[in-house]
Amino acid sequence: MGIDEAARVFTDPKAYADERRFHAACARLRRESPVARVDVEGFDPFWAVTKHADVMEIARQPNRWFNGPRPALGPKPREGAGEMPVRALVQMDPPDHLVYRRISSDWFKPKSIARLNDRAAALAKRYVDRMAELDGACDFVTDVAVHYPLYVILSLLGLPEEDFPRMRKLTQELFGNVDPELARGPDLMATLLDFFEYFQKLTEQRRAHPTEDLASAIANAEIDGKPIGILEAVGYYVLIATAGHDTTSSAMAGGLHALIEHPGQLRRLRDDPSLVPTAVEEMLRWVSPVKQFMRTATDDSVLRGVPIRAGESVLLSYPSANRDEDIFDRADAFDVGRDPNRHLAFGFGAHFCLGTHLARMEARALYRELVPRLESIELAGEPAYMETLFVGGPKHLPIRYELAPSS
Ligand code: HEM
Repeated sequence: MGIDEAARVFTDPKAYADERRFHAACARLRRESPVARVDVEGFDPFWAVTKHADVMEIARQPNRWFNGPRPALGPKPREGAGEMPVRALVQMDPPDHLVYRRISSDWFKPKSIARLNDRAAALAKRYVDRMAELDGACDFVTDVAVHYPLYVILSLLGLPEEDFPRMRKLTQELFGNVDPELARGPDLMATLLDFFEYFQKLTEQRRAHPTEDLASAIANAEIDGKPIGILEAVGYYVLIATAGHDTTSSAMAGGLHALIEHPGQLRRLRDDPSLVPTAVEEMLRWVSPVKQFMRTATDDSVLRGVPIRAGESVLLSYPSANRDEDIFDRADAFDVGRDPNRHLAFGFGAHFCLGTHLARMEARALYRELVPRLESIELAGEPAYMETLFVGGPKHLPIRYELAPSS
């Protein structure tokens, strides 16, 4: 593989579905071209940043590196395609970003999230019990992983349970939009308009009849003394409804796949369940469900000897940073006791993931329930990973297992 070809993995959805190929390309880039120019038909050119230190260096300077014009990599919009009709946190920069982030940040602090602990533990038990009912075989992604985080985040938001399947479908379309199995069509407009319609109605309802949920906090938020704009409110909902579950389910399913592939590590975790928190961090590092965000330079600079001009964009590759040999001892080994584990799966800096405590709590609850009951587990078919440019992980994980009844 030539170095230019290696750098093309970031624009090739199929590369993310083939973890071995993807990581081999990133390892080569980190060694030979850690700030690599990618100029591929169908995409505006950008620089791929693959080293942990460089991702952090850029992410820690939100005044120099903006999210605004190009927050994440996607294909160039086709002629005549409409603009994204929402404005969410990930598209904002100082000073707006902090103002909007504050609207919801209290809801995601450890104290607020701790209130959901019992609920998450009960849900984890419900889903592991469901696995037990499935006669020793299931597709862990479609039967368990996609439902459980969705349930938690939509409950926090305050949506009615009968709407959950619709949210799940829309999110999958949004994130899996380049995977032929999950896509609705070649552009995202229809999906975004559905979201818009749904959340516009929700905003109106929560303004008329405020409730004690996060949806009400957003609908009734004020910015500089004025009600939050509808584009911003809808952007918020879409971000929370979507960022909150495919990411977490990918981490949990990819984590289970890693445990199956590393039976020694699974045994170690079974023997010592106090390792669940470090195991979850390792799953996050290993899977890195968010594949990239981008930043755009506001001034000229030089990164590892490569000049980057104002207006040019960089892609921050979290999965690559998370296998960086300069930071992680035996970076290619899956180690459930890894400590320290300075992974960047949640990003870094001003846009650092709001949902970290929630995601960690959900994943820990699931593995605390599952691991002690797992008497055996193996693959029952070939796992398949999502074709994606943005958020991804397993889309199918067929497994066979023996589970002890719950204690
Ligand atoms: C394993 C699960 C998750 C992963 C890997 C993940 C990853 C990320 C990453 C990489 C970013 C961008 C950070 C940056 O630019 O520095 C982000 C932002 C964000 N995440 Fe998560 N996330 C996860 C779960 C969640 C959950 C459960 C929520 C809950 C609602 C959430 C809400 C958000 C929001 C609102 C932002 C935007 C923050 C901002 O721009 O200020 N995420 N996440």
